[in-house]
Amino acid sequence: MQKFFIHTFGCQMNVYDGQRIAAMLHARGFVETNDFRDADIIILNTCSVREKATDKVFSALGRIRLEKKPDALLGIVGCVAREVGGTAFKRVPELNFVLGPQSYHKLPEILENPDVRLLNIDLGGLEKFDEMPQMDASPAVAYIPIQEGCNHVCTYCIVPYTRGREISRPYMDVVRDTEHAARTGAVEICFLGQNVNGYRYENYKLADLIRAAAAIPNVRRIRFTSSYPTEMTDDLIEMFATEQKLLPFLNMPIQSGSPDVLHRMNRPYSLDSYMEIVNKLRAARGDIQISSDFIVGFPGETDDDFARTIDIARCVKYINSFTFKYSPRPHTAAAIMPNQVPENVKKQRLYKLDAELSEIQREFNLSCVGKTLECLCEGADKTGRHTVYRTPYMQQCIVNTVAGSAPQMAMIKITDANKASLRGEFAE
Ligand code: SAH
Ligand code: F3S
Repeated sequence: MQKFFIHTFGCQMNVYDGQRIAAMLHARGFVETNDFRDADIIILNTCSVREKATDKVFSALGRIRLEKKPDALLGIVGCVAREVGGTAFKRVPELNFVLGPQSYHKLPEILENPDVRLLNIDLGGLEKFDEMPQMDASPAVAYIPIQEGCNHVCTYCIVPYTRGREISRPYMDVVRDTEHAARTGAVEICFLGQNVNGYRYENYKLADLIRAAAAIPNVRRIRFTSSYPTEMTDDLIEMFATEQKLLPFLNMPIQSGSPDVLHRMNRPYSLDSYMEIVNKLRAARGDIQISSDFIVGFPGETDDDFARTIDIARCVKYINSFTFKYSPRPHTAAAIMPNQVPENVKKQRLYKLDAELSEIQREFNLSCVGKTLECLCEGADKTGRHTVYRTPYMQQCIVNTVAGSAPQMAMIKITDANKASLRGEFAE
């Protein structure tokens, strides 16, 4: 029996790509192993959004190449493959294949022809979605990509280079995948895209996909990620008022609270126009919670610029956010901007912002105590003695019951909270 090992780094889109690669290998009779030493094919599914992410891939390769079975095939797929291309073979001579995020469906070529190095980092568009076997959604949450790539050129971001220009999948293909997921056990649908609310196919927009998903009885919860602020159009905002299955939670990254930094990042909104969208969302759905990505230490960011980021975090009261130190990336404009911020300053700012966001999160979590929320079961916690649920705001809620007997969806009364999670019990 042939075995494969796959390790996925990075974003939800990579997780999806990893699942598709696994499904493709399963269909060819491979079984998965979680020990690379035991595998006949080893795949690192990679992320290049920050330099550290790329470094991690090469340090993992350094270890794997020494300990793998001598004839095991070794390769990288995803964004690092696209970033470094054929130079990867020079850095790691044992590599057999290097496949970009839109060409991993070419993987079988290496199985048929293991003696020839396989390099393909083309931006093949939607081809990969057509050529791969459909997956069954065994877990309760199905991640369904609806578009890929990004037309916004944020000056720090390598994604438009690694994933290419935006392309939206045909409306009917997404509906078919959503129906298939619901039929095979998914109760939550998460539409995915680098610029998910930029979805456009003929006259269809994201709001149409949400409506189509909501019409499927088994689908109980719908969300989407990641959204670009200026593409949060009124028709989409309206969905938060009219579609109760749409969760009251939205990731809408602001990145920075400084108008000057936003300008240099090429993010085309003002704080006023961003807040106008937030206010419209809150008018549509009073309890909506917003999450953001933040970058600290962007080139030229002053203490005053950074103080404005803290101000906007307090003002919006973001929850479940992601914070990053700016990392210069190849193929991006910001990497060659003057006034790069020293590492120790970035570190201090990150620490300060994290502390602030954590306090905001704690306050929000505490405000949930006493409320009863409809939550989705995620499975057992690490001890196996408790079950983890997700609230409609994507907080973790721990319930004192073993996962085997836990209902998939349950009304849970929140009894306690800290900055990291909630505790609750089944409501009577
Ligand atoms: N809209 C995209 C975002 C991709 S990158 C998506 O959802 O796929 C995710 C986050 O990483 C960005 O929102 C940004 O905050 C951060 N990021 C991107 N490039 C970065 C860089 N060069 N340095 C630090 N953080 C970065
Ligand atoms: Fe990157 Fe900006 Fe697009 S963060 S993915 S270029 S919206």
